[in-house]
Amino acid sequence: MRVRVTALVAVLTVFLGPPSPVAAQDYDRATLGAGKILYMRCISCHTVTKSGRHLVGPNLWGVVDSKAGTRAGFKGYSESLKTSDIVWSRDALDRFILDPSGFLPGTNMIYKGLPKETDRAALLAYLETESVNEAVRYEGLQY
Ligand code: HEC
Repeated sequence: MRVRVTALVAVLTVFLGPPSPVAAQDYDRATLGAGKILYMRCISCHTVTKSGRHLVGPNLWGVVDSKAGTRAGFKGYSESLKTSDIVWSRDALDRFILDPSGFLPGTNMIYKGLPKETDRAALLAYLETESVNEAVRYEGLQY
């Protein structure tokens, strides 16, 4: 057990190290699998696939590196988000998910935040993979 945990930490350290322009499909399956499970905290309010519906929150297809508050057809944005000039870089997403209302006072995303850095990194790897490169799923990547 200890060996497996150590190995996992090593894997996470390699893949979740400093931000780098890694192609989405370069994330390892363990990270993506962990991210997919963490995404269950978002799924009641957000879909992420290309033709996903808006729920309480907007569909997140293609959200990485997009301008905040611009999802077509979503009517539930707060003034704060609509009038912000945020671009959802990896760093901005990380800070938003850490503490939504601290990062964006007045947001109507009711979510307390995800405190653990490695959790956020795994979640963002999953979000990036799912929302940027749908093809990955069709190339048989199972996670
Ligand atoms: C209770 C519902 C709810 C939950 C849970 C939730 N969100 Fe949201 N999310 C929203 C709403 C509502 C907005 C719009 C916020 C605003 O306009 O201030 C939003 C906005 C966003 C945006 C900005 C989208 C844009 O178009 O600019 C991102 C990114 C996001 N959420 C990611 C997440 C992630 C990742 C999780 C899980 C950790 C999550 N959300 C959990 C409701 C939710």
